[in-house]
Amino acid sequence: MTDKTSNQMWGGRFAAGPDAIMEAINASIGFDQRMAAQDIAGSRAHAAMLAATGVITDNDAEAIREGLLTVLSEIESGSFQFSTALEDIHMNVEARLKEIIGEPAGRLHTGRSRNDQVATDFKLWVRDQFDAAEKGLLALIKALVDQAEAGADWVMPGFTHLQTAQPVTWGHHMMAYVEMFGRDLSRVRDARKRMNESPLGSAALAGTSFPIDREMTAKALGFDRPTANSLDAVSDRDFALEFLSVASICAMHLSRFAEELVIWSSAQFRFVTLSDRFSTGSSIMPQKKNPDAAELIRAKVGRIFGANTALMMVMKGLPLAYSKDMQEDKEQVFDAADNWMLALAAMEGMVKDMTGNRESLAAAAGSGFSTATDLADWMVRVLKVPFRDAHHVTGALVAMAEGRGVDLPDLSLEDMKSVHEGITEDIFTVLGVENSVNSRMSYGGTAPAQVRAQVARWKEILG
Ligand code: ARG
Repeated sequence: MTDKTSNQMWGGRFAAGPDAIMEAINASIGFDQRMAAQDIAGSRAHAAMLAATGVITDNDAEAIREGLLTVLSEIESGSFQFSTALEDIHMNVEARLKEIIGEPAGRLHTGRSRNDQVATDFKLWVRDQFDAAEKGLLALIKALVDQAEAGADWVMPGFTHLQTAQPVTWGHHMMAYVEMFGRDLSRVRDARKRMNESPLGSAALAGTSFPIDREMTAKALGFDRPTANSLDAVSDRDFALEFLSVASICAMHLSRFAEELVIWSSAQFRFVTLSDRFSTGSSIMPQKKNPDAAELIRAKVGRIFGANTALMMVMKGLPLAYSKDMQEDKEQVFDAADNWMLALAAMEGMVKDMTGNRESLAAAAGSGFSTATDLADWMVRVLKVPFRDAHHVTGALVAMAEGRGVDLPDLSLEDMKSVHEGITEDIFTVLGVENSVNSRMSYGGTAPAQVRAQVARWKEILG
């Protein structure tokens, strides 16, 4: 006789229930209850298919359908009692269904297993998150395009090695991030498309002898098609790993921009002013306005990439097909998804609200000999001097200006001529930062006209 405390779902061959520690390590209901809606959607599709194929009666299917809706409303209203003894969301839902509708509940699990069930539920959950990420990215891209349009011709320093390199435009800098988040968007869409195959009906690992219709359940759940190999379908977590790696790359982009905002909002730079809505104060230093949102966004990449690494490690040694190790997939993905969505929304809010300080940007753009390359280019173009020689002459002029504590345009024509005979008055037309950026008309360059062309292209993409 079976011990009363043994599991009601699979207790047939067990004489005793689990040790408390076993229950604690085994249960996933504490976190997989987040997939309740997906679990019930999967069960509804499965039951309807079982009736359509004649595996169960229409009456049983109807009872199951109604019972599942009751369970869903109990979960949504918060009245559902989750039980750790029932291990996971799948068994919690099924046990409650049995309490509500009795015997027909026992027919729901025909031709399926928790292995294809959990793969299906998790895919549906991750798919929703890809959709949420797509929305978040589109909103962020739009905010950046708006910033770029407003400041298409604002000059600022462009950096390499965080040393002033050449003047660029604010719009150009904003559009650089549009390109990055645009690639993230295309990765999201790509991965979503690839993962959209239904594992349901793969059963435990080998498929089933029941005459099920996997096309039907796939379609009902919005999948493009059923998966083609049952062993793979129940043990594949590529979709979760792709989600985490796409999220990691995007979080890295968010972090780079966050880092720039931290630097730019400092008293030393003053390139941007962040809004009060996205800053915090200090409890001791009254003058402070801290870019906490940017700092936290910068930090998120750590946990998101950590989740990616953790799941990689969980999966790398698993023989086919399902192993319980795979239950460790969910918390990582849940946490990464929550934090990715939050970081996207916070970045969008910050970008929408921030003010580029046009004067500070322009003042910084002119410092640091940022138009030295323009001077060298002018000598090449007008005097036909080889670039290497022009580079040398310009270096000497920079040294002269530096020695006097002035900028390149402050040197006189005589100063210039003392280093290279051929230089004429015309040189001063290229030394200003406005001239410099306006001249960078190569496709994808920083000239305001190029920036506006990219803004127009993105506006069309965004619709
Ligand atoms: N809670 C399990 C998970 O998240 C469901 C699948 C259990 N399957 C099994 N054969 N024990 O992976």
